[in-house]
Amino acid sequence: MQLFKNKNIKAKVDKNALPAHIAIIMDGNGRWAQKRGLPRTAGHAAGAETFRTIATYLKDIGVKYMTVYAFSTENWKRSQEEVSAIMSLLENYLYEAIEKMEEDNINLTFFGDTTPLSDKLRSLIERTNDISARIDGFKVNVCLNYGGRDEIVHAAKEYMKAGGDPEQLTEEVFSNYLYSAGVPDPELIIRPSGEYRISNFLLWQCAYSEMYFTDRFWPDFTGADIDRAIEWYQGRSRRFGGVK
Ligand code: IPE
Ligand code: IPE
Ligand code: MG
Repeated sequence: MQLFKNKNIKAKVDKNALPAHIAIIMDGNGRWAQKRGLPRTAGHAAGAETFRTIATYLKDIGVKYMTVYAFSTENWKRSQEEVSAIMSLLENYLYEAIEKMEEDNINLTFFGDTTPLSDKLRSLIERTNDISARIDGFKVNVCLNYGGRDEIVHAAKEYMKAGGDPEQLTEEVFSNYLYSAGVPDPELIIRPSGEYRISNFLLWQCAYSEMYFTDRFWPDFTGADIDRAIEWYQGRSRRFGGVK
């Protein structure tokens, strides 16, 4: 095994066997804040900073795709104050991304139903989509008002609307109607915050993903945590139902 020893990667990560796609459930913002006597919204602000840091880190080490769970179809159950705080952090990030994504070579895509979002947020998403169409770089998928079940139902509707023939429907064809069309399934899914569940994230795509759980809250996440997750992933035996 060839070890990658540069300043970016400290754990024993094999640079030649990196997952192409890492998906992250950015969880634990609220508890991170509560532990410090801060409002939950402060946790979301800290989590947004961590997202910036980790996106840069993954891009620098050579991962090709990153998918993050930012807001689920169930997260509307939270207080209006919390929901608006999350949405305004997203707006801020998008203003920044619109300025910098070309220079940073980052391609941003959104998974989820954007119709219930504010006009402002939707127009920012449209602008980032336009810019992304010109960029063939590190691909970041932001799951926003996303639910795995919702995605599957949406894909089924789209197939039917397109006049799809039930007899012609295969797994491959169906996956082209998902928000993730064209994106390979994540080899590794990371869930911080000590929860051991999928919470409606990438239900179709996670069929053979390796799942890494850690107690660390998302705002505390660093590149070293990513290295640990990748090192763990590289020790797994992936069989896909076969025998090795
Ligand atoms: C994840 O952190 C962010 C969102 C779900 C939007 P949480 O807000 O769920 O943090 P905890 O789980 O309450 O600590
Ligand atoms: C999953 O976290 C959603 C996001 C991180 C955006 P939740 O905090 O909503 O999940 P549960 O409620 O603990 O399952
Ligand atoms: Mg949570």
